Amino acid sequence: GVKEIGIIVGPNKEQVIETVKSENWNVDAGAEIEFIYQGEPKGLAHTILVAEDFLDDDFVMYLGDNILREGIVEHAKKFKGNNYDASIMLTEVENPQQFGVADINEDGTIKRLVEKPKVPPGNLALVGIYFFKPVILEACKHIKPSWRNELEITDAIQWLIDNGYEVGWTKVQGWWKDTGKPEDILEANRLILDDIKTKNEGTAE
Ligand code: G1P
Repeated sequence: GVKEIGIIVGPNKEQVIETVKSENWNVDAGAEIEFIYQGEPKGLAHTILVAEDFLDDDFVMYLGDNILREGIVEHAKKFKGNNYDASIMLTEVENPQQFGVADINEDGTIKRLVEKPKVPPGNLALVGIYFFKPVILEACKHIKPSWRNELEITDAIQWLIDNGYEVGWTKVQGWWKDTGKPEDILEANRLILDDIKTKNEGTAE
């Protein structure tokens, strides 16, 4: 049901704009697409600050390199239904050091979120898809850059938790891939091909 889409673009903005515009999203899907330029890659929380004027309502932030088999509709419903200020999606991974990681209390609430921890508190990684109320803007304005000199979205969500906002989470069913590296794109391609059903629409002579 998402109809207003803002795409954050960087140095390769012409390529992205041209590719997106090669499909008629407005006619085919009723979607309005706006391109928002992020001058410097200063982190995911920085993209939210750059998009401030665009974000006047609840929104989903979707990292362009994340692919999810089951989509996000069920997760969006839980975010809306529970009236959370933010909701994150988690999944078990073998290499939590490479992601944001969640430490969950026994009662199921989030205790702590850490970005790329050397010693992970568990193996539940943050998927790069987040649901937010506009209060996340406040959080992004309060945090400081991390060791990699980025404003981390993980730190912004931690700020919400520390300041008494309701942050929920859901678990991803089915596969999820962060296709940041070439081998991941190949793996995602394989997973998608696995799901394609064969069909026989006749015979050719
Ligand atoms: C980003 C987030 C990280 C998350 C990951 C998912 O990492 O910072 O918390 O687990 O996306 O794709 P990055 O791609 O910036 O290394």
